[in-house]
Amino acid sequence: MLLIQPIHHPSATQHHVELFVLRLDLIHPLVSGNKWFKLKYNLQTAISQNCPQNSSINLDLNHPQTCPHFRGKILTFGGAYSNHIYATAAAGKLFHLPTIGIIRGEEHLPLNPTLDFAQSQGMQLVYVSREIYKQKHTPAFHQELTAKFGDIFIIPEGGCNLDGIRGCTEILAKIKTETTEQFDIICLACGTATTLVGITLSTVKNQQVMGFPVLKGGEYLKSAINDLLHQYLASNLPVPGDKSLNWQLVCDYHFGGYGKINQELLHFQKEFAQTQGITLDYIYTAKMFYGVIDLIQQGFFRHCRLLLIHTGGIQGNQGIAYM
Ligand SMILES: Cc1ncc(COP(=O)(O)O)c(C=O)c1O
Repeated sequence: MLLIQPIHHPSATQHHVELFVLRLDLIHPLVSGNKWFKLKYNLQTAISQNCPQNSSINLDLNHPQTCPHFRGKILTFGGAYSNHIYATAAAGKLFHLPTIGIIRGEEHLPLNPTLDFAQSQGMQLVYVSREIYKQKHTPAFHQELTAKFGDIFIIPEGGCNLDGIRGCTEILAKIKTETTEQFDIICLACGTATTLVGITLSTVKNQQVMGFPVLKGGEYLKSAINDLLHQYLASNLPVPGDKSLNWQLVCDYHFGGYGKINQELLHFQKEFAQTQGITLDYIYTAKMFYGVIDLIQQGFFRHCRLLLIHTGGIQGNQGIAYM
């Protein structure tokens, strides 16, 4: 069962807003947050393609069974501080699946804490130039990677595919249904928006999903979200919600762009940890929580119940300290 915790904040009380946080950051010490939900079905698909005798495997983080006949490698992409690389490496070790991380940019030694950890989990790190990295979605590059590394199963950057979405449709279902339906608005940070799409597909009764892109100019995500929703609905994969698909983006809380932070955000993150006892990461969740509190103070929300999803990413704070 996932943990939901109330947040007591004076601005929320003043505007009659009830705030709750869904602690996905607590699901596992290494494969935490939304990362596991995006990885689960990707890894299951890899196993069922590689070892048909294990096609009905149901991977469980807390009871990690292994697949001794798996002969391939899980290959994925990410930046040098990527939460997805970190989680894929850890999940690979946990389930005994060999992993390769294609890392954007040059190698810098000593390795930063994220890559050092990934390597310690057995992930093979392969650095490619930013130019080559841009080809990460192309079939030609995938063929090149297959020629080089043999039997690989490719998971796109950030776990952004139908299997990634499918896992995220299960996030709200893991909370007891009656509880989930009590929330009017569900807020989360967006990178690729895979998680937002999964959450949107699982909402009911006019629940609203609000995504806070952490990249500058996040409006561009709108068409990507529509495409992902369309592709998912056209597939035969399960849709637990009522397909009302109420979502919107709030694009004003990127703090200058991906990985950019300022004193105000640093102060907010510190104060939030002190007053609420919850550590937020600077890249994703601190920006979203800051945005929600700011909108409450502006009177944007009134008389409603909000669920804020803590999507993890705490490992990235070490990277900020390292930089
Ligand atoms: C901590 C954290 N929160 C939010 C996100 C955004 O998730 P998505 O790419 O599915 O929008 C990510 C990226 O995976 C992340 O690492």
